[in-house]
Amino acid sequence: MSVVSCVNLSVPATTANLGPGFDCIGAALTLSNEFKFTRLDGGEFKITVTGTEAAGVKTDSSNLVYQAFVKLYQYIDKTPPPVNMEIKLGVPLARGLGSSATAIVGGLVGANQLAGEPLSQSQLMELAIAMEGHPDNVVPALIGGCRLAATSKAGWEICDIPWHGDIIPVVAIPNFELSTEEARRVLPTQVSHADAIFNTAHLGLLLRGLATGRGDWLTSALQDKLHQPYRQQLITGYDAVNSAAVSAGAYGMVISGAGPTLLALTDQTHSTDVVAAMATAWQQQGITASVRLLSIDHQGARIIS
Ligand code: HSE
Repeated sequence: MSVVSCVNLSVPATTANLGPGFDCIGAALTLSNEFKFTRLDGGEFKITVTGTEAAGVKTDSSNLVYQAFVKLYQYIDKTPPPVNMEIKLGVPLARGLGSSATAIVGGLVGANQLAGEPLSQSQLMELAIAMEGHPDNVVPALIGGCRLAATSKAGWEICDIPWHGDIIPVVAIPNFELSTEEARRVLPTQVSHADAIFNTAHLGLLLRGLATGRGDWLTSALQDKLHQPYRQQLITGYDAVNSAAVSAGAYGMVISGAGPTLLALTDQTHSTDVVAAMATAWQQQGITASVRLLSIDHQGARIIS
């Protein structure tokens, strides 16, 4: 077990739910936050944050990266060392792109590295899921790719969901925030049997659509009855952006995670038109959005130089 004094990490953004896979499926995207941890000789901790939304991140002990860092040391029954944390933000905050998951995964992996890697990747995953409360952002943030997570007697079964190379994710990130707490508060505590069956069938279809790249399957599969019908009202312009994306040739559009970012899936031929259509539709509602063509990140959290 080698103990290091400094580690620099990159952790990808994620898009969770993908329509019918509420709280169980998510994919890592080619957009990331960076976290540098340097062991200090004395003191307690210091946090600095850079990036366009740096002002929105706390630098006291309530910082989520620091909390995850401390959590790992508590788990291994050791005192956290004094540490300097430098956070470089590339993932917008509270937009449904897994910024909290990057913080949790960054803090846990950083602490694990400084402590000499006492925990395995699956132990880190269990801790990350427990901290976040659901697996669909932290799992792909940690190990990359598109992942399905299901509870098992032993903990969690995690499986790789093949993502056909022709399917392109487009994220439209508006200039307003929506907290996950608020987006979960509008959900019903119970759903009908019919809605449960609808989502079961559509999640199965989604997995086949993602694997094969069949557009007609994806168009149908992106429908959901567990969370989107309740959350759409929280996102100004949802219907207009959806119509614009589909008219421009997207297979369909969903809420990314808890929103307000909207995710369209499309192909290479229509991708530029989809980007332009989503940006224009939101602009017409008076909302500025950054619309980006991304890819699936297959590496997850990784050490960078
Ligand atoms: N599955 C979660 C939700 C993702 O939709 O609330 C956001 O953390």
